[in-house]
Amino acid sequence: MIFNKSIGLDIGLTKIKAVSLSRQNNNLILDSFSVMSSPPKGMLSEAPIDEREMAQTIRKTVDGLKTNSRSVNIALSDNQVYTKVIEMPVLSDKELSLAIYWEAERHIPVALSTITLVWNVLKKPLNSSSDEKMQVLMVGAPTNLIGKYQRILQMANLTLNSIETETLAIVRALVSADLPPTIIVSIGAINTSLAIIRDGILILTYSIRTGGDAISRSIEADFGITPAQSEEYKKTYGFSKVGAGQKVGKSTEPILSSILLEIRKALAFYSQKYKDDSIIQQILLSGGTARLPGIDLFFAENLGIETVVANPWKIFGGKPLPSEILNNASDFTIALGLAMRDL
Ligand SMILES: Nc1ncnc2c1ncn2[C@@H]1O[C@H](COP(=O)(O)OP(=O)(O)OP(=O)(O)O)[C@@H](O)[C@H]1O
Ligand SMILES: [Mg+2]
Repeated sequence: MIFNKSIGLDIGLTKIKAVSLSRQNNNLILDSFSVMSSPPKGMLSEAPIDEREMAQTIRKTVDGLKTNSRSVNIALSDNQVYTKVIEMPVLSDKELSLAIYWEAERHIPVALSTITLVWNVLKKPLNSSSDEKMQVLMVGAPTNLIGKYQRILQMANLTLNSIETETLAIVRALVSADLPPTIIVSIGAINTSLAIIRDGILILTYSIRTGGDAISRSIEADFGITPAQSEEYKKTYGFSKVGAGQKVGKSTEPILSSILLEIRKALAFYSQKYKDDSIIQQILLSGGTARLPGIDLFFAENLGIETVVANPWKIFGGKPLPSEILNNASDFTIALGLAMRDL
């Protein structure tokens, strides 16, 4: 199907973000965007009353786009699904559709009868007799979780056009063919996901359960202040080893260090696999926590790799954008990547 208008809906724990894009000739146009705070329990609660509140907030967010379309693309957070990039011998589509269930048995630790499995060939060597393997992305999502999203979207008077993982949306928004080997680190409120990109293709992805919330709680505990105050401290001082922010930096550091450790592991995987071939040249930070003051320096200094905060809006080629977007550019990576899916 060819769409000329598309809505990306990022349902996060703290924020719901929606972006409406359209295509005119070869250009993407930003029609509108909309952001609202999520209800306190977000999608984590199973209670009908919380689901209704969630549906209402989602509906208001999409209404804020002021577009006629009610069809949305959404993403599941990476820690709710099983994602794996697997290497397989070159297979036909039919062979793959059988073989993938064997792989799923090996990699997914729960009963496959509870899982909806999808896969996607990332790379297939042209010559099937070569030793080169094909790379397949396999995603298993709990079927009842998908049902929950469908139910809530229906209550919000929306239709679900597509569902994928956050990492796939992030990759779509940030990766171009000429990107050097890069590790994308996306840090939200409770979830952090890592993705290694080589030759424009995703080769490794996984996620851990930490993020900006853990930083706020650490500051809150160390200073004995309210959640609102600690959020302020976090945004003002972030991570610093010197000056006024030094004390806050001490509270921030353990969480950043735990993310650092995961990045080191991913880098070790990469250099093991690709030996002296090429090295990761860049760390791209995304998600709300990418805006933590000093976070880029923290990773750059500890890893000796250039670290930049991702700007998914670069594809709009310097066209004037609202300041609310420019000031929070990295927040919209997922919503934008989702909206780009059909265009
Ligand atoms: N300027 C800032 N400095 C530091 N942290 C920030 C800043 N702005 C937002 N954050 C933090 O970013 C987090 C929210 O990020 P994001 O909007 O990507 O998450 P989410 O999508 O709501 O949550 P999740 O993806 O984990 O479900 C919060 O922890 C928030 O405190
Ligand atoms: Mg998020």
